[in-house]
Amino acid sequence: PDNRLWDTHGRVATDLRVSVTDRCNLRCRYCMPAEGLDWLPGDDLLTTDEVIRVLTVAVRDLGVRAIRFTGGEPLLRRDLEEIVAAVAGLDERPDIAMTTNGLGLTRRIGGLVDAGLTRVNISLDTVDAARFAEITRRDRLGDVLDGLAAARAAGLHPVKVNAVLPDRSDLSRLPDLLRFCLDHGYQLRVIEQMPLDAGHDWDRASMVTADEILATLQAGFDLRPDPTPRGAAPAQTWLVDGYTEPHGGPARVGVIASVTRPFCGDCDRTRLTADGALRNCLFATSETSLLPALRGGPLSVDTDAAIARLWRGNAWAKGPGHAVNSAGFHQPDRPMSAIGG
Ligand code: GTP
Ligand code: 5AD
Ligand code: SF4
Repeated sequence: PDNRLWDTHGRVATDLRVSVTDRCNLRCRYCMPAEGLDWLPGDDLLTTDEVIRVLTVAVRDLGVRAIRFTGGEPLLRRDLEEIVAAVAGLDERPDIAMTTNGLGLTRRIGGLVDAGLTRVNISLDTVDAARFAEITRRDRLGDVLDGLAAARAAGLHPVKVNAVLPDRSDLSRLPDLLRFCLDHGYQLRVIEQMPLDAGHDWDRASMVTADEILATLQAGFDLRPDPTPRGAAPAQTWLVDGYTEPHGGPARVGVIASVTRPFCGDCDRTRLTADGALRNCLFATSETSLLPALRGGPLSVDTDAAIARLWRGNAWAKGPGHAVNSAGFHQPDRPMSAIGG
């Protein structure tokens, strides 16, 4: 129909999630082991120029309209400001966002906003310092809270907080987390844990479900369904009576029910890993590496055209949705930290 990233189910990928590194400075239990993982070899990581080249093709030739930088922890890339600035300088400037754990954000936010970043989502599972240190294996709650405050002070809006509840006992701390977010003007979204952990320890019965999350929230707060159309967003949202956002509108809280209420039918996402692989789904079991096109092609080959062709092919092969709820489900080889969520 046109040159965008269509699939055989009639969806178009216009939202690109770019993992710029698989490394992280936290060790969340539901994501990585204490000792970390076998990081991607440095030679395989896309260079600054390669990332910019690929993102330019995505926006200019493939109809990508929103770019979100993820990791690992994206702030560990020293060249993030340079990449953001290049993307912001493209003719049809996309929406530019980042998902981060917030560590060190106070020092980077000014440069990133100057470069063109317009929105951040920050991962924070609890405001209880002891529990934070248990989940992340690092005693850094204060730094994350500083990062959140810096994002708000920089004028970014909305600032969203992503929370995964690794254990059912974390439900008892959830009202405190929501109250904290409402008091500070952050939009909380509580996420069902997906089977993407490096240890392959996920199990359906211990996963805290959207229904449990919602019941806990409703017990402490007056929630009304959000009338705003949801579109392709992963989060279903509610308005919280009695609270307003910093800009005056009603405060919201969201639940991301990836497992119990999949939203794959409306998916508009495509993904690029730090080592230059395209993924058409979080749970894709095959990928398309751009490295041969970027690095190996003879000089006569039009590399940008090759990237665009490979990407359209990768998108076209996208399945109808994830199979987490079916018997034959296989977790992808790449863990969450190397896909970018
Ligand atoms: P917004 O534009 O602010 O809505 O961002 P987002 O929610 O799409 O991105 P974010 O990185 O904050 O992700 C929040 C949670 O949603 C994470 O747990 C992601 O893994 C999950 N998520 C994002 N995209 C997808 C997706 O395509 N499929 C599934 N199943 N989960 C997703
Ligand atoms: N399932 C769901 N969300 C996860 N995240 C990390 N691991 C998982 C998982 N297994 C969240 C992080 C971050 C976002 C990118 O994904 O907390 O907010
Ligand atoms: Fe899209 Fe795959 Fe996520 Fe479903 S699981 S919403 S198809 S990326």
